[in-house]
Amino acid sequence: MAPAVTRISAETIRARKGGVPIVCLTAYTYPIARLLDDHVDLLLVGDSVAMVLHGHKTTLSASLEMMISHGQAVTRGSAKACVVVDMPAGSYENSAAQAVASARRIVGETGCQAVKLEGGVDVAGQIAAIVAAGIPVMGHVGLQPQSVEKDGGYKIKGRTPENVATLIRDADAVEKAGAFSLVIEGTIESVAADLTRRIAIPTIGIGASGQCDGQILVIDDMIGLTVDRVPKFVKEYADLRSVVANAAKRYAAEVRSRTFPGPSHVFSASSDKDNV
Ligand code: KIV
Repeated sequence: MAPAVTRISAETIRARKGGVPIVCLTAYTYPIARLLDDHVDLLLVGDSVAMVLHGHKTTLSASLEMMISHGQAVTRGSAKACVVVDMPAGSYENSAAQAVASARRIVGETGCQAVKLEGGVDVAGQIAAIVAAGIPVMGHVGLQPQSVEKDGGYKIKGRTPENVATLIRDADAVEKAGAFSLVIEGTIESVAADLTRRIAIPTIGIGASGQCDGQILVIDDMIGLTVDRVPKFVKEYADLRSVVANAAKRYAAEVRSRTFPGPSHVFSASSDKDNV
């Protein structure tokens, strides 16, 4: 009998500080989770789903229900990866009690291994309370998409001494609050390297250089499905835009010329089994 596959835990991710780089990708759907599960250590059901799959302008449109629904699809589609679900804006900022209630709902209804939330000193109390409730937390500092309106855009971080001091305070606060790992987004290389050396939990970079303990990208960006401009830090490993557009173009031509469906795609009265 094949051995049962056990999921990678948040504790296993924490223990990989400074070791072989931790491979992370976002996933929002069952089929993508099935395709990625063998190749990654961690799948993040990011609140970027609001933009990537639902076409909203910012991640601020993600709701708890949206995150839970996509979280369920990703846990159903994976067996090995550590699954982390983002806490959407508005689900944790008000109080530690609100944060714990939202985190419990996410874990209880999806079966994910951990939650992620954005912020540093300002959300340290929430992180500590969720961890005390037995739910592992991934932090997120640097560029924080939930703060894009407050920040006036997707601004690169770590360019002024004041901002570097803020990043250090935030990373320290997230670590001290008990997070098992920390996403650093959109931050200059030297600062990401300093933060990685400074804290004892793994850093996961996105637009934060190869100096971090692991990397994450938005899946649609890295497979070339993103229709709008992708940020400089993205590497496209495939060009699914062309694959999908080309398939649609060939299908349309074959339907219009009546070459599809062909003889092999139709049922006859005698020769078929009962099911399609
Ligand atoms: O929502 C998301 O996809 C994220 C990653 C960019 C880290 O938070």
